[in-house]
Amino acid sequence: MTASPHLFTPLTLRGLQTRNRIVISPMCQYSAHEGHVDDWHLVNLGRFAIGGAGIDFTEATAVQKRGRITHGCPGLWTDSQIPGHARLAQFALRNGAIPAIQLGHAGRKGGMQRPWFGNGPLNEADFERGDMPWTPVGPSDLPVAEGWPVPHALSVTEIGNLIDDYVSAARRALMAGYRIAEIHGAHGYLVHSFLSPLSNKRTDSYGGDLAGRMRLALEIAQAVREAWPDDLPLFFRTSAVDGVPDGWSLEDTVVLAGELKRIGVDVMDCSSGGIAGAATASGGQKRQPGFQVGYSERVRTEVSMNTMAVGLITHPQQAEEILAQGRADLIAIGREALVDPMWALHAARSLGYDTLYETWPEQSGWWLAGREKTSDFYDPEAVT
Ligand SMILES: Cc1cc2nc3c(=O)[nH]c(=O)nc-3n(C[C@H](O)[C@H](O)[C@H](O)COP(=O)(O)O)c2cc1C
Repeated sequence: MTASPHLFTPLTLRGLQTRNRIVISPMCQYSAHEGHVDDWHLVNLGRFAIGGAGIDFTEATAVQKRGRITHGCPGLWTDSQIPGHARLAQFALRNGAIPAIQLGHAGRKGGMQRPWFGNGPLNEADFERGDMPWTPVGPSDLPVAEGWPVPHALSVTEIGNLIDDYVSAARRALMAGYRIAEIHGAHGYLVHSFLSPLSNKRTDSYGGDLAGRMRLALEIAQAVREAWPDDLPLFFRTSAVDGVPDGWSLEDTVVLAGELKRIGVDVMDCSSGGIAGAATASGGQKRQPGFQVGYSERVRTEVSMNTMAVGLITHPQQAEEILAQGRADLIAIGREALVDPMWALHAARSLGYDTLYETWPEQSGWWLAGREKTSDFYDPEAVT
C-alpha cells in the first residue's frame, strides 16, 4: 500500500468503524415477494460487500404493508420477514461491510408500477399481472399528479401508529443484524411529503409552518433513536431541495439537520427531488457529476454533522476530492456500483492504496498478486 487516501480512511460512527468511506446507496430491486427478500437480494448486496464497500445499504424497506412503493418492495412489518434480512446482514458483516437498512414508507407513491412496467400508477396490464392497487396515504388528499390515486390523509391516531411501526421495523432490523438504520425522508415518499409545503396542506400540528411540517420526521427520528442501540448510528436521507418554486429549500434542510442532530441522528444523507418531476433528483437540476454534493457541503459546514454525498459520483479521484475538500464524510455510490460491483476495490487500486490486491478478498487476492508478478498481459497496442 503506497498512499493513504481519504476514501480509505476509516470513519468512526458511535461504536462502529467503517473500513473506508464508500457506501452502496440504497437501490430498490422491485423483486421481493409479499415483502420478503430472497436470493436475488443476497447475491445483489453480497457482490458489493465482496467488492469492498464500507457500508452496504439494503433498499427502501417498508415499515407498513401499504408503505411499499411497488408490489416488489421488501418490508419489515412482520416477523416472518426477519430471516431473509438476516442472511443479507450476516453475509455483508462476514465480508467486511457494515450492513445498513433504509426504513421507509412510500406514502402517496405507494402501490405504483415497477419501473420497467412504466413507473406510473398501476394500470390494467399490471392488474393482469396480479399487481392490484391499494389506497395510498399522505399528509393530505393530494395525489402525486393527475391520474394518480387520491391518498387518504392520515389522522393523528394513524400517525401515532405509523411511528410505532417505524420503531417495530427498526427493532426487527436490529434482530436481523443490521448495524445502521436510515430513515428515508427523501424522494417524495411519506416523510418527505410531510416536510414539503407542496404536498402537506394540513392545518393541524403536523402541517402549516416549518415546525409543523418537520414534526413527523422528528418524531419518527426520536422514536427510532430511542429504540436503536446507543452504540449504533442512525442516518437520515433527505431531499435537500424540491427544486420547485415555493417547495422545500436548502435553508429548510439546514434547520431540519440541526434538529435531527440534536435528537442523535449521526449522518445526513443528502439527495434531492421527488415531490415533483424525477424521483431522485430535484426539478430543473441538471444531472452532472456530483450535482448534489453542494447540499452535503452546506449541511456539513452549517450544522457540523457528518454528511453523505450522493449523485453521479463515479470516479475514485472525484470521490477523493469531495472528501479532501471537506464536502462530505461518506460517498454513496449508486448506479456506478451496478456497472462495477467491485468499485471500491478498483478505487483502492487506482488511488494507489492497493498495489498488489492486498485489500481484495483472500479467495482472489492471493492469486491475482501472483499473476501480477509472474505474467505478461496481452497488449493490443503491441506490434506483432
Ligand atoms: C435502481 C435504483 C433504485 C433506487 N432505490 C432507492 C431506494 O431504495 N432508496 C433511495 O433513497 N434511493 C434510491 N435510489 C437512488 C440512489 O440511492 C441514488 O441516490 C441515485 O441513484 C443517485 O446516485 P448515483 O448517481 O450514484 O446512482 C435508487 C436508484 C436506482 C438506480
